[in-house]
Amino acid sequence: MGVTVGDWHGRRVLLTGHTGFKGAWLALWLKRAGAEVVGLSDAIPTAPSLYELANVSGDLVADLRVDVRDAAATAAAVAEHRPEVVLHLAAQPIVHTSFAAPVDTFAVNTMGTAHVLESCRTAPEPPRAVVVVTSDKCYENREWHWAYRENESMGGKDPYSASKGAAELVTASYRRSFFGGEAPTQVASARAGNVFGGGDWGACRLVPDVARAAAAGEPVQIRNPGATRPWQHVLNPLSGYLMLAERLLTDTVAARGWNFGPPEDDVRTVQWVVDHLANAWGEAFSWQRDTRRHPPEAGSLKVDSSDARALLGWRPTWDLEYGLAQTATWYRDVAADPSQARSLTLDQIEAFAADLETQGDVC
Ligand SMILES: NC(=O)c1ccc[n+]([C@@H]2O[C@H](COP(=O)([O-])OP(=O)(O)OC[C@H]3O[C@@H](n4cnc5c(N)ncnc54)[C@H](O)[C@@H]3O)[C@@H](O)[C@H]2O)c1
Repeated sequence: MGVTVGDWHGRRVLLTGHTGFKGAWLALWLKRAGAEVVGLSDAIPTAPSLYELANVSGDLVADLRVDVRDAAATAAAVAEHRPEVVLHLAAQPIVHTSFAAPVDTFAVNTMGTAHVLESCRTAPEPPRAVVVVTSDKCYENREWHWAYRENESMGGKDPYSASKGAAELVTASYRRSFFGGEAPTQVASARAGNVFGGGDWGACRLVPDVARAAAAGEPVQIRNPGATRPWQHVLNPLSGYLMLAERLLTDTVAARGWNFGPPEDDVRTVQWVVDHLANAWGEAFSWQRDTRRHPPEAGSLKVDSSDARALLGWRPTWDLEYGLAQTATWYRDVAADPSQARSLTLDQIEAFAADLETQGDVC
C-alpha cells in the first residue's frame, strides 16, 4: 500500500480561496475524505468557474464571503468556525495582474497571510495545523539551472513573486515567534507552481488560454513557446498539501517550508505542452506568437522536492503527459456538456486517489 491521504472525518477545515481553481478541487477532495469544510473567499474569481460548475458550495458547512485584507472579519470567521486545520490558498495569483496592481497584490498575498495567521494566533480555540500555500516563485530566482531547496533565500523580482516570498517570511516569523514547539498550532508553508487541470479559467495561463482558444475556434496566442516550466497536474500538489496538514497534526518537525514540484522529466517547453494537449484533445490547434508587449517573465525555476518525498512520502502521482490527457478530456467533455463538470472532477479525484494509494506498491 502506498502513502495516501487519510481519513478526515470529523475534522473541521477552513479553506481560504475555495472559489478559485485549486481551492475548488481541494474543497471537493476534502469533502470526499470526510472533512467538514468551511470555505472563505472574497468573490468568485472567474466566469465560468469550477466552483459554480461543480456546485462546490453544496459540499460546504459554511460558504463565507470574507476579504482577507479585512483583519477583523478574518479573525471573526476563524473564531466563529473553530477550524482544526486551516489551508490558506486565497491570493491574487497572477504575475501579470501584479504589475497592474502591485499594492493590492502585496495587500492580499502578504498582509492577507498575516491576517490569517494572526486570526489563528488570537482565536479562542486555535487551529492545530495551518498550511500556507505560497509558490515556487517565492525563491530569489538566480536564473540558474539547479533546483531550489527549501533553505534557499526568499526573493522575487515581480510583485507577485515578491508578495509570495514576503508571505513566506511572515509565515516563518509567526512560526518562530508564536507557534511551534509546545504551542497548540503548527504552521507550514507549501511551494508549488505552474499547476494545470480541468476547471481553470485564470487569465494569462497556458492551459486556460488553450481552452478558450479551442472553444472560440481561434489560434492560441503564445508568448514564449521555447520557455520551459515545471508543469504539474493540480492534484499532485494538492495531495502534498493534505499529507502535510495530516503530518502537522502529529509531528512538529513538519512545521517548516516544503517544495512540491514535478520531476525533472516534466520540465518542458510551452510548445511541448501545447502539442501534447492538442494530441489529447483530438484536435490540432493552431497557435501564433503573441507579439504584444508584456511585463517581463522570469526565467525557468525548478524546485527540489526531495524532502517531501523522503520525509512526507509525497510524490507526483500523475506525470505530465497523463495529467494533460486528463485535463484535455475534462475541458472537451465539459465544453460539450457543462453539467458533467462535477462528476468528471469527482471521477478524476477518485482515480487520482486510487493511483496515489497504489503508486508505492511493488508488483
Ligand atoms: N495556479 C497556479 O499555477 C499556482 C501556482 C503557484 C501558486 N499558486 C497559489 O495557489 C493558490 C490558489 O491559486 P489559484 O490558481 O487557485 O487561484 P484562483 O485565482 O483561481 O483563486 C484565488 C482564490 O483566492 C480568493 N481571493 C482572492 N483575493 C482574496 C481576498 N482579498 N480575500 C479573500 N479571498 C480572496 C479568490 O476568491 C479565489 O477563491 C494561490 O495562493 C496561488 O498564489 C497557484
